[in-house]
Amino acid sequence: MTELTDITGPAAEAEPVAFPQDRTCPYHPPTGYDPLRDGRPLSRVTLYDGREAWLVTGQATARALLADPRLSTDRRRDGFPVPTPRFEAGRDRKVALLGVDDPEHHRQRRMLIPSFTLKRATALRPWIQRIVDELLDAMIERGPGAELVSAFALPVPSMVICGLLGVPYADHEFFEEQSRRLLRGPTSADTLDARDRLERFLGDLIDAKAKEAEPGDGILDDLVHHRLREGELDRGDLVSLAVILLVAGHETTANMISLGTYTLLQHPDRLAELRADPALLPAVVEELMRMLSIAEGLQRVALEDVEIAGTTIRAGDGVLFSTSVINRDTAVYDDPDALDFHRADRHHVAFGFGIHQCLGQNLARAELEIALGSLFTRLPGLRLAAPAEEIPFKPGDTIQGMLELPVTW
Ligand code: HEM
Repeated sequence: MTELTDITGPAAEAEPVAFPQDRTCPYHPPTGYDPLRDGRPLSRVTLYDGREAWLVTGQATARALLADPRLSTDRRRDGFPVPTPRFEAGRDRKVALLGVDDPEHHRQRRMLIPSFTLKRATALRPWIQRIVDELLDAMIERGPGAELVSAFALPVPSMVICGLLGVPYADHEFFEEQSRRLLRGPTSADTLDARDRLERFLGDLIDAKAKEAEPGDGILDDLVHHRLREGELDRGDLVSLAVILLVAGHETTANMISLGTYTLLQHPDRLAELRADPALLPAVVEELMRMLSIAEGLQRVALEDVEIAGTTIRAGDGVLFSTSVINRDTAVYDDPDALDFHRADRHHVAFGFGIHQCLGQNLARAELEIALGSLFTRLPGLRLAAPAEEIPFKPGDTIQGMLELPVTW
């Protein structure tokens, strides 16, 4: 099946749907997006302030547009699709990497690539395994019974990103709380205050590192002692990079661990399949990435007119990408709502695509394989400790995941 190329048919005449919407089931796209799942690759949607934008839902169109330099991630540009009031409030703030276009983006990303290669992530596996084992030991000793987000899903990536960056884990409560406020508010004032606090905290840490005669072995130490000293980065850029690495490094992976666990527990046959064949683990992680698509609504603005899929995106139009719908494109996936570890096509866009494709994906995959693999091996009787439909999950305007996950074994 190929993507539809003309914007006709019932959905074209229908009112644009609202974006973003809350999920009804934490691992499926919102049912409110059903009208967008009829095979057309892009549609018009309405944002919270009544403005309209394009929403891309077809995989081929998404990959073409995410790789197209005529689309910008610079949130300060007119027409940038703003999904929430709290996002609007922080729009003028500097966002390294994800908020800049090439060539500046390339300059920043180049400095970080050596720290996030597959080889580096593979070398980190024994250390990640130790972190996971110690957290599971402590949880099992206190059990049976735990709230899995606070006991496991959040501390694993938090400890990993702290160790990698050279941020003291002793401060984890502070930065986890600020990351939560940065991503979820609830008010615009919360978001701005959280960003200020994170910037001050990381700015002070960077200044302290700059005074040390010998650099420590964290990524921030390396950036301070080489890139900052040699004038390749200024302090403002370095602080902004530190914020995105710290926040993206723990919030996303924590949500994948909690929601991935919930999803596997809700699919006992698939879980039994994994238990019978642990070699499936990489495929399980990839399929969970596709199915859960926790980073929803990637944002761009068109710098020029772009002809695509039989329509014209005009210069200044906002373009959003629904990863959850793109990753269930029926032109690519048979039975896309099913959890299936044997799919031939693994080209999901859950880590994005193009120049901004997730810098931390090798690390995230290593963490997810070790965390989920160890959790289900060590606790063969793991089960939910509350009715599944009563367990709260995150609203649709942020990274998707479980707010809490009561389990027992
Ligand atoms: C399973 C967990 C993760 C998911 C689902 C995820 C998802 C994503 C997505 C979708 C993007 C692209 C956004 C866009 O194009 O608008 C992205 C970018 C990024 N991610 Fe991740 N991510 C994860 C883990 C991580 C980790 C562990 C790090 C570690 C530092 C990280 C750091 C970044 C950075 C720095 C960018 C911006 C890259 C750029 O603009 O060049 N992510 N991530």
